[in-house]
Amino acid sequence: MSSSGKGPGDSTLLAASGDSDSIKVFVRVRPLTQGTGLTTDGDQSLCLNVSSPNTIRLLSKPEPRTFTYDHVADMDTSQDSVFNSVARNIVESCMNGYNGTIFAYGQTGSGKTFTMLGPSELDNFTDELRGVIPRSFEYLFFLIGREVERSGKSKSFLCKCSFIEIYNEQIYDLLDSASASLFLRENIKKGVFVEGAVEKFVNSAAEAYQVLSMGWRNRRVASTSMNRESSRSHAVFTMTLESKESRNEVVNIRRSQLNLVDLAGSERQKDTHTEGSRLKEASSINRSLMCLGQVIMALVDVSNGKSRHICYRDSKLTFLLKDSLGGNAKTYIIANVHPGSKCFGETLSTLQFAQRAKLIKNKAVINEDTQGNVKQLQAEVKKLKEQLAQALTSSGGDSAPGGPQPLMGTRSKAFSRSRWTGWATLEHPVEGVELVQCSVAGMKTTLRRAVRQNHFEADL
Ligand SMILES: Nc1ncnc2c1ncn2[C@@H]1O[C@H](COP(=O)(O)OP(=O)(O)OP(=O)(O)O)[C@@H](O)[C@H]1O
Ligand SMILES: [Mg+2]
Repeated sequence: MSSSGKGPGDSTLLAASGDSDSIKVFVRVRPLTQGTGLTTDGDQSLCLNVSSPNTIRLLSKPEPRTFTYDHVADMDTSQDSVFNSVARNIVESCMNGYNGTIFAYGQTGSGKTFTMLGPSELDNFTDELRGVIPRSFEYLFFLIGREVERSGKSKSFLCKCSFIEIYNEQIYDLLDSASASLFLRENIKKGVFVEGAVEKFVNSAAEAYQVLSMGWRNRRVASTSMNRESSRSHAVFTMTLESKESRNEVVNIRRSQLNLVDLAGSERQKDTHTEGSRLKEASSINRSLMCLGQVIMALVDVSNGKSRHICYRDSKLTFLLKDSLGGNAKTYIIANVHPGSKCFGETLSTLQFAQRAKLIKNKAVINEDTQGNVKQLQAEVKKLKEQLAQALTSSGGDSAPGGPQPLMGTRSKAFSRSRWTGWATLEHPVEGVELVQCSVAGMKTTLRRAVRQNHFEADL
């Protein structure tokens, strides 16, 4: 997944921003028997109950176990309410230049596709039961329209989407069913991306629905004993958003990606009784979900201060989601669970997965770049410096405990790999702020943050 437009000096920005977002987790309990999901064989007994809007009680023996998440949604939760809790903030962040990822995780038949897309029989996206993906399009284009209007048209947006699936550890383009399998590449500018994937420009939610429907028709689903329309691949819909704002001949560009992921579900062979190609699919799905679990465990260790190698490259899924797991993105995981007693084992493992994932810290930054001539950019930097000086004066020059901290260190490797739009060197303009040679855009972003925060949390 691309981390495009990592701003100049991104490593510095990470440190200076203090933006350390934990992955957020939303647990959704599906209804016991609705739809054609997991058969309960008439068994109506439950293995869990939702004890508060963020706790779930698993009826384990000898003692029930309570798990806490950012949000827990009971069986009767509407699609609209799921969207509001999970996706609204992520879409708004994307509008501000942050990458965002939402992915649905859980056992087969637990409601991942229902949550992300809607019921399988849905053939348009006006239905009340439409899921997170179509609702995200609507909200995104609503926000775009509002921003363009507010800015008096000085701001413009460009949206393009791609849609791929990972099937048996191969990547296929859902927008071009004739294409052969594709490869993942990683480069400094774009991060991890699928080489050669079709990208369609869209100007409205309706156009985005069309791209979604077209890809969805190409996705591999099959009937299994656990789910009549079981997803046999991981599907990743990516919306790339670019905004340009011109002010006094300085153009500010922000780029972000919104990744909407419907994973294939884990399944136990003893429950599904699969064989032949279904069995091959299932083992490939289980293997990649296992790699996802291992990456998450390693990231949790890293969050606890341990030094660990993160094996992103062990599966296509984890490599593609690299930035969403511990990297430059705001990530929300929807953990779907089935409440039936028969599903106790899978539900427990989903809840444990989700609990670990919550501990991972991502480092989301605004992906921003500035164009203009050096003089104009320097004038803007000067203005920001003045604002910063003012902010410091009004706060009595307070800084972080332990005295002033430098906001920028020496020119880092990240600087040289970014797209340069201009250079500037600042002396030590304000007490507590040390700026060395860096890109004007990087400097601007740092100064802007410092102005906003009015204190320094940099840990260099
Ligand atoms: N919250 C819900 N309300 C009503 N129906 C639901 C809900 N969740 C799931 N269903 C129904 O249950 C069935 C299985 O759901 P779905 O296909 O979304 O599962 P899944 O997790 O995507 O499974 P798989 O991993 O096999 O693809 C579908 O018929 C779906 O419409
Ligand atoms: Mg599915």
